[in-house]
Amino acid sequence: EKGGYEHFMLKEMYEQPKAITDTFSPRIKEGKIVIDELNMSDEEIKAIKKIMIVACGSAYHTGVTSKYILEGLARIPVEVDLASEFRYRDPLLEEGTLVIIVSQSGETADSLAALREAKARGAKVLGIVNVVGSSIAREADNVMYTWAGPEIAVATTKAYTAQLIAEYLLAMKFAYVRGKLNDAELAALIDDMRKLPAQVEMLLNNKQKIQKFANRYLAAKDIFFIGRGIDYAISLEGSLKLKEISYIHSEAYAAGELKHGTISLIEEGTLVAAVLTQEELYKKMISNMVEVKTRGAFVLAVTNTENTEVEKAADYVIYIPKTNKYFTNSLAIIPLQLFGYYVSIGRGCDVDKPRNLAKSVTVE
Ligand code: F6R
Repeated sequence: EKGGYEHFMLKEMYEQPKAITDTFSPRIKEGKIVIDELNMSDEEIKAIKKIMIVACGSAYHTGVTSKYILEGLARIPVEVDLASEFRYRDPLLEEGTLVIIVSQSGETADSLAALREAKARGAKVLGIVNVVGSSIAREADNVMYTWAGPEIAVATTKAYTAQLIAEYLLAMKFAYVRGKLNDAELAALIDDMRKLPAQVEMLLNNKQKIQKFANRYLAAKDIFFIGRGIDYAISLEGSLKLKEISYIHSEAYAAGELKHGTISLIEEGTLVAAVLTQEELYKKMISNMVEVKTRGAFVLAVTNTENTEVEKAADYVIYIPKTNKYFTNSLAIIPLQLFGYYVSIGRGCDVDKPRNLAKSVTVE
């Protein structure tokens, strides 16, 4: 059932190109984004005043990414909240708020409770869900499925990837309907989306290089992930992937926050993974990388191929191919997933079933 792969996680990482295609292709018709399941007229889309994305864990991380995209492309204010926080904080859901609950399993207790809370307060709720017919899918007003197929490994990879695609499509749709994207810009985004599966494949095929690198960090005590903007969101997911399956302590920080405390943790040889895919933030990131490097950190950079400056501040660089600035998470996360995977198996951990974790968290 692992289809020749050693672990479900590796198999599912390799299913990502297909998960991307299956999630977007039914929703692109004649150059337009068509999301029938959304059940919202153009007038209703134009009337959205605020979006709240509510989820747990990696699904929450896709929401953090989407905040940058929905705000950047569609100019709609977005709040992202952890379901376990949202449900108890007396959230303000004024008229015109769209609540989006993101969940692979569709059974996460806190996410389901958040959905019920939002509905009880009169908000319209859209579910972005992977498991067909799950509780969140059934109870949401509308459901947009991520067509990733069954995910077995506890650490999510392909469902996360498919969630990102669903959220990109929503942002593109909303931006277009609200007049913030013209036909040419939408066509360019669709074009870049169509290239993602082959680009992900290419990055997956780089796995030996990442394995070799990962093997140097099997005894690491702490690992830090830093980024700005969307790259901060990628760092959150990169860090979670590593720690949940390798049991190495890791943290993600918005790079600008380092000097407000975290930088004191950097010691000789500490690995800092810097994600820099946003061109307008390269310079700021490079100065953060220099700051940690001068304090002894070993700096791994994940960046775009055209970033020629990066080698000045990085000890090791993984390049991702060119895509739209809003889609970089889909590419930059691949080497970070592989890194977590190889550190985990290198340390002899049970990568598909890490200790203390369950695939579906149906209790609070
Ligand atoms: C991490 C992971 C978890 C889930 C979280 C939400 O790899 O899988 O953080 O993302 O438990 O689960 P769902 O998406 O099923 O609501």
